[in-house]
Amino acid sequence: MRRADFGGGGNAEPLRISFFGNNNTIVIARSAKLSGLINIFGDNNSISFSPLSQFSSGIYIGKKDDLVRSSNLCFGEGCKISNSNIDIVAGSNQVLNIGNNSQLNSVYIEQPGKSEAHIGHNVSFFIKSQIRIGLQSELNIGDNTTINEIFINSAMNSKIDIGQDCMFSWSVVLFPDDCHPIMDKETGKLLNSHNNNNIHIGKHCWIGYGVTLLKNVTIPDNSIVGMNSFVINKQFDEPNVIIAGSPAKVIKRNIDWDRDIPQVYKEKLKEKEPALL
Ligand SMILES: CC(C)(COP(=O)(O)OP(=O)(O)OC[C@H]1O[C@@H](n2cnc3c(N)ncnc32)[C@H](O)[C@@H]1OP(=O)(O)O)[C@@H](O)C(=O)NCCC(=O)NCCS
Repeated sequence: MRRADFGGGGNAEPLRISFFGNNNTIVIARSAKLSGLINIFGDNNSISFSPLSQFSSGIYIGKKDDLVRSSNLCFGEGCKISNSNIDIVAGSNQVLNIGNNSQLNSVYIEQPGKSEAHIGHNVSFFIKSQIRIGLQSELNIGDNTTINEIFINSAMNSKIDIGQDCMFSWSVVLFPDDCHPIMDKETGKLLNSHNNNNIHIGKHCWIGYGVTLLKNVTIPDNSIVGMNSFVINKQFDEPNVIIAGSPAKVIKRNIDWDRDIPQVYKEKLKEKEPALL
């Protein structure tokens, strides 16, 4: 039976969702299993439980004056969310979609205003991640992507697109905008660019340990970003490359990569293409 599973399991802390406002909707997919706490302060908020859901959580419904309005959370079938915190405590029109069979472990998601996050199907957050999606900003994560540890922070008008089947190591930082203004000391003119607040990561990319991607960056399909690399204002366009260094540059072309460890890959190659060994 497919189900969504919130909290529970091992020593994980339960999920906590807080809503302060009016006209918000939470949809929990078929066969959901919740063991978290949902706080709702406001009017006309709705939670819809699909058939077969099991509910052992607390729901607290109160009233408050500073309100979130018209936000929408959808958790797909078979989602498993534990030790996580989703904070939607101000503003309006936040959208958070988590696809079927995705797992979020120790993820803190903050959407302080109108913003959208679409996490695809079968996406896994394994260790610990912190995600803040700023006002009028968007985060899209493609199906089958896996993330060990990521820190995402955007302030306003930013977009992060992550393709399908990407693999993120630990300590990865994505900052699509600078968050604060830098101005000319004499005139007060704004100096830091704020028009290309985008990070685009193609499909099947491997983002190594300690990588930092800042504003206006494109990582092409099937590529690797090497450990501790730093990329800003750079659109790499040739697919199947290794990008590394600070500032990062292409260090190898015509590559591909696999999730197996090299020894296992070698064994597979022995069976399929022994001539390549
Ligand atoms: C990116 C990486 C996979 C490339 O491996 P590789 O193809 O075997 O690279 P090579 O050792 O042939 O290095 C090629 C050149 O790039 C340089 N280089 C490689 N990785 C680099 C990095 N992360 N930063 C800066 N330069 C790097 C090498 O010094 C070498 O330079 P040279 O030609 O001047 O001597 C590897 O360096 C790496 O970063 N591995 C760690 C990935 C990771 O984070 N794993 C965590 C588990 S998910």
